[in-house]
Amino acid sequence: MRTKIVAGNWKMNKSFQEAEELIGELATKLEDKELICEVVVCPPALYLEMASDYADESIFCVGAQNVSEHEHGAYTGEISAEMLDSVDVDFCIVGHSERRKYFDEDNYLLANKVNRVLDHDMIPIYCCGEVIEEREKNIHFDIVEQQIKEGLFHLSEDEFSNIVIAYEPVWAIGTGLTATPEQAQEMHAFIRKLVAKKYGETAAADCTILYGGSCNAQNAVELFAQKDVDGGLIGGASLKADDFIKIAESF
Ligand code: PGA
Repeated sequence: MRTKIVAGNWKMNKSFQEAEELIGELATKLEDKELICEVVVCPPALYLEMASDYADESIFCVGAQNVSEHEHGAYTGEISAEMLDSVDVDFCIVGHSERRKYFDEDNYLLANKVNRVLDHDMIPIYCCGEVIEEREKNIHFDIVEQQIKEGLFHLSEDEFSNIVIAYEPVWAIGTGLTATPEQAQEMHAFIRKLVAKKYGETAAADCTILYGGSCNAQNAVELFAQKDVDGGLIGGASLKADDFIKIAESF
């Protein structure tokens, strides 16, 4: 179902103590808020169980930043979807551009990760987006189309109904260079059209598509006001409770 979501991707930041402080602050400050969006907190894997304990008493949900493409077995250092599920994780980011770039994750590998997450009844937040050179060459629509088709379009209509897509132009991530609301809307509308072609108009209308890339408490209102932007995947600005909550109040 199409839902408004604000998800915070903490990336590789914060000690356990700092993480618990931030989670606790979020839980307290969210207590008397009446938000119209779902709030998802994606801390490093080591802190997921602690975050889930706080989430039990609060309105936010917990997401992981990554998952293994394998079900279980001899994969030293990896974390499976089953493990995430066992500590009550609800969402899992799949295919963040940093995973694609630094860990060579391609669309086919990501399709397997999406499958693992769905197998355990969690919701994948599947990331797509072009690098600056691709936008300059005007091939950004082709790149995003390929990422979506190869990573997601093997799914049945039923499976696809549990997918959240995050459009994150790589040139906007952590750079302070946000896409303009028009650029975001243009790509989100394009993605929704791709979904309509594959799964039909209802599936497309029901699909949640988030924007990510230097989204902050100042620019969120304008971005979220776009017809096809259903919320945000927030990096840097999710590390401060007040900024993150302000973004969640931007609808
Ligand atoms: P940013 O990161 O908000 O710091 O640009 C977004 C993301 O990487 O998901």
